[in-house]
Amino acid sequence: MLDKRIKPSVIVKYLDQYVIGQDDAKKIVAVAVYSHYRKIDRAKQDSVEVAKSNVLLIGPSGTGKTLLCETLARILGVPFVTGDATSLAQTRYVNEEIEAILQRLVDKADGNVARAQNGIVFIDEIDKLKAVDGQPRSVSGESVQHALLKIMEGSQVKLANAQYIDTTNILFICGGAFVGLEEIMSGSQTYGFISASDSDNQNILNRLNARVKPTDLFQYGLIPEFTGRLPIIARFRDLTREMLVRILVEPRNCIYNQFMDIFRNEGVELSVERKTFEQIADIALEYKTGARSLRGIFEELITPILFAVPDDPGIRKVEIASLFTDPRYIRNSK
Ligand SMILES: Nc1ncnc2c1ncn2[C@@H]1O[C@H](COP(=O)(O)OP(=O)(O)OP(=O)(O)O)[C@@H](O)[C@H]1O
Ligand SMILES: [Mg+2]
Repeated sequence: MLDKRIKPSVIVKYLDQYVIGQDDAKKIVAVAVYSHYRKIDRAKQDSVEVAKSNVLLIGPSGTGKTLLCETLARILGVPFVTGDATSLAQTRYVNEEIEAILQRLVDKADGNVARAQNGIVFIDEIDKLKAVDGQPRSVSGESVQHALLKIMEGSQVKLANAQYIDTTNILFICGGAFVGLEEIMSGSQTYGFISASDSDNQNILNRLNARVKPTDLFQYGLIPEFTGRLPIIARFRDLTREMLVRILVEPRNCIYNQFMDIFRNEGVELSVERKTFEQIADIALEYKTGARSLRGIFEELITPILFAVPDDPGIRKVEIASLFTDPRYIRNSK
């Protein structure tokens, strides 16, 4: 079902074109997805039971979790939808909401249920389902976990038009920021004691210690059955200033390229100096929303220019040297 040429390394190379940094997460997800689709292939041939390895993405907001999943679905050519755990927790009709998500998956597959059954479902904000004692949300949070559990395991779900969709081979990727998980983890470093015996293994030990354990998630408030269904955990890191600059200028569809395109359509060349992007990155760092605020800051800079340019057909080029100086307009010399 999956093109044999799409190996984990190929997946990572493709992701690299759109997602900056997050190298560990890319590798983990690439291998997980590759294994998942290979298992389905093998199961078809040998009719062995597929043990599913759903994936959990943990990391701060705006660091590329959703972007990575979307990009992934594109290279795999499988239908992909996202759902939001918070809205699942707020409705009284969890199962209807879940059906709606699966229905959207079928829609994405142009109504082809068989194709949808090999798709990817991304459920975001899974950390908001934590069971907190004495809070009204706890009840619904837990019941949503149970409802999700059922479809992640694989079940037949009836859709609105009386069709059934089998979720057995659907890959579920869950995501969440899990604020406060670090503190829980630092209290549970199981492997620390081995480090004394052999310093060469420090790298491996660091990796093991950086691993999120099911017990950490349990302590965080996810029920054990649920964490048990998410054996693969990939962590996303805070984006550095340098990464934010790269996000502005590097990916194929990066913000800079998009705006150069817009200006080109006006017959104008846009040229922004690196310093400007660094200043934008600095502001974005202060906002603490990952890369999410980059576009807004850039647009604020560019909007007055985009407003002025169409009125002045003589302008051939716009040069921006800094966020805090006026742009330079270069006109056709007559
Ligand atoms: N690592 C990255 N590389 C390139 N662009 C990124 C990266 N991280 C974030 N972005 C940009 O920021 C936007 C928001 O990122 P995304 O939606 O993936 O965040 P998220 O990790 O899913 O956050 P949340 O937890 O709030 O859902 C993306 O659309 C993308 O433009
Ligand atoms: Mg997201």
